[in-house]
Amino acid sequence: MKLKLSLLLNIVLIAALAFGAYKVVFQGSVEEADDGRTAILVSVPEREFLLSEMRTFLEHVQEIVVAISEDDMSKVEELALKVGTAEIEMVPGPLFAKLPLEFKNLGMDTHKLFDGVAKEALDTGDGKEVTRLLGDLLQNCTGCHAGYRLDIEPAS
Ligand code: HEC
Repeated sequence: MKLKLSLLLNIVLIAALAFGAYKVVFQGSVEEADDGRTAILVSVPEREFLLSEMRTFLEHVQEIVVAISEDDMSKVEELALKVGTAEIEMVPGPLFAKLPLEFKNLGMDTHKLFDGVAKEALDTGDGKEVTRLLGDLLQNCTGCHAGYRLDIEPAS
């Protein structure tokens, strides 16, 4: 009987650990928001960190569009690399754990697609093709915004 009980406790413990690991790796700290999106619950400075990255994204997209219109492909390359994988800012550990896996993947993919825009600008210098890639990339932005928002977590 005693053995069975400790076995049961072990199973409960392992299940709890697995659930915790699942939450950290896949789900993050989230809740369903009223507008149908998934709200990621973060602290005020964490939200500011992410939003400031976002504004950097948009500023670079704006400058890239201008550079394409001026047919200045070395400028396009330079700008796209500034938001590419080489410039990824380290997400602090506690925030990393709060972000769902899909969100992290989409973020990483967006940086990679900027690398792709830079490469296309360098390799072909074809403004139309670069614009097409930028259009594809912008779907990552709109897709993520449609699915997620950032809410402030309750004070603990
Ligand atoms: C992995 C998900 C994700 C990707 C990819 C993403 N964003 Fe965001 N972005 C967010 C979230 C979440 C917010 C906060 C939205 C909210 O709370 O309503 C946000 C907010 C923003 C804001 C508002 C910033 C502010 O100060 O309020 C801008 C601008 C923005 N994103 C631009 C972009 C651009 C441009 C891209 C693509 C190059 C992009 N984002 C890609 C998730 C993403």
